[in-house]
Amino acid sequence: MIPSTIEWIDNKVKMIDQTILPHKLEFLEFTNYRDVATAIKVMNIRGAPAIGVAAAMGMALATIEYKGLPKSEFLKKMEEAAERIRSTRPTASNLFWAIDRIWKIVSSYPDNPSNLSELVIEEAKLMAQEDVNVNKNIGKNGATLLEDGDVVLTHCNAGSLATVQYGTALAPVRTAIEDGKNISVIADETRPRLQGARLTAYELQYDKIPVKVISDTSSGLIMRLGKINKVIVGTDRVTSDAVFNKIGTYLVALAAKDNNIPFYVAAPTSTLSLHETVDDVKIEQRDSLEVSNILGKVQIIPDGVECLNYAFDITPFRLVTGIITEDGVFSPEDLLKKYK
Ligand code: MRU
Repeated sequence: MIPSTIEWIDNKVKMIDQTILPHKLEFLEFTNYRDVATAIKVMNIRGAPAIGVAAAMGMALATIEYKGLPKSEFLKKMEEAAERIRSTRPTASNLFWAIDRIWKIVSSYPDNPSNLSELVIEEAKLMAQEDVNVNKNIGKNGATLLEDGDVVLTHCNAGSLATVQYGTALAPVRTAIEDGKNISVIADETRPRLQGARLTAYELQYDKIPVKVISDTSSGLIMRLGKINKVIVGTDRVTSDAVFNKIGTYLVALAAKDNNIPFYVAAPTSTLSLHETVDDVKIEQRDSLEVSNILGKVQIIPDGVECLNYAFDITPFRLVTGIITEDGVFSPEDLLKKYK
């Protein structure tokens, strides 16, 4: 099994450097929260659940740094740390969910920062362990949707690398294979950061799960040719009316609808933000260099031409067949009934 994406070891945050995959599997280690914030921003670590755990561990590092300070200064510094981590990426709910969860502890135990640090470290470690357990349950629930011989299309990377381990969208595939079913994956390359080509293909090959990569523009044809049985994607935020996920997901959902292919979204409950609607969510816009230059290197557009680089798009509930959480598989209507 591919190693954990992120771990807390000896008061350090250790993470796989996803910017250099699939060529090298190397780890980064951080001892201060500013470096963790930068790692989230530049996408050494990415994927909504993994970002959430990184944020919590970043906050844990901040408690170590500031635990010698008097209470009021300690709280001020912790607020600065929370703000810095919050500002890294705006779309994935898990980042804010994780900081809010840590903040509950910070704000309820302000009198002894040293003791508090231990509590925050334990909470961050617990969140990492919970993530794996939640993903295993998503796997169990989602595997019931897969039949022997199915080919699953996925977009971006919502696998082990997007979480602590095991993944969300790829969890049903992993569990169905563990149950003895013959399942294979088609991965959209996912321009511009190529998470499908670089990361999904890497982790599935690492775990000997059959995978083929296609250009983003081919998924409609591949569906029409009858080569896909189900689509499963992850999500960065689920509002009361739509699913936010990597740019290109909406087009995949439209093509799935037009070809009568079920379109499922794997979503841990930490990604649900059902008090919001699409209008409340900020979609991250990233550096245009990601579009103008392949992997920041070869320029593919004429000098002086502008690019738009929205990182996520919006798939309305009407295109979603079911949402797989750690508790079960729900239609969008039933999801709202259960969790809103
Ligand atoms: O920009 P990224 O790589 O962080 O985007 C990741 C995705 O869009 C994933 O599909 C999403 O975070 C779900 S991960 C389980």
